Amino acid sequence: MSRIVYVLNGPNLNLLGKRQPAIYGNETLADVEAACRRVAASLRLELRFHQSNAEFRIIDWIHEAREQAGGIVINPAAFTHTSVAILDALQTCECPIIEVHISNVHRREPFRHHSYVSAAASGVIVGFGTQGYLLALQRIARLIDEAVAQT
Ligand code: DQA
Repeated sequence: MSRIVYVLNGPNLNLLGKRQPAIYGNETLADVEAACRRVAASLRLELRFHQSNAEFRIIDWIHEAREQAGGIVINPAAFTHTSVAILDALQTCECPIIEVHISNVHRREPFRHHSYVSAAASGVIVGFGTQGYLLALQRIARLIDEAVAQT
């Protein structure tokens, strides 16, 4: 069972820390990556951390993950609410998928209330700030450990 975990970030998350800090906080994506690397190391997970503003890049990383990963953590950002293509890509994966949103999308505009991606997710973490990524990694590690114990 692979312990590689892809952490994928969608559009505008490269501006984390500068972008609407009242909603998304002051941490940068580099801070989030560093925190994820610390937690991943403690959970014996190997991290592949990526961000893109382009839908096709996220899809290509999901295709990589379906061959290599034991789990996927994904914050598809605005593609959450628009992308059947990302849903289709995730539905080709057998590993656990955790969808993360920094903000509580359910407290925001109605167009943020629907996620295409949730239909492929094992779980969804919403409104926990950037801590959501770390909780998602803990969950993936648990699911990998449980799957290993069952073999
Ligand atoms: C987001 C919520 C989305 O609605 C938004 O488009 C984002 C970030 C979040 O992490 O809270 O870009 O996914």
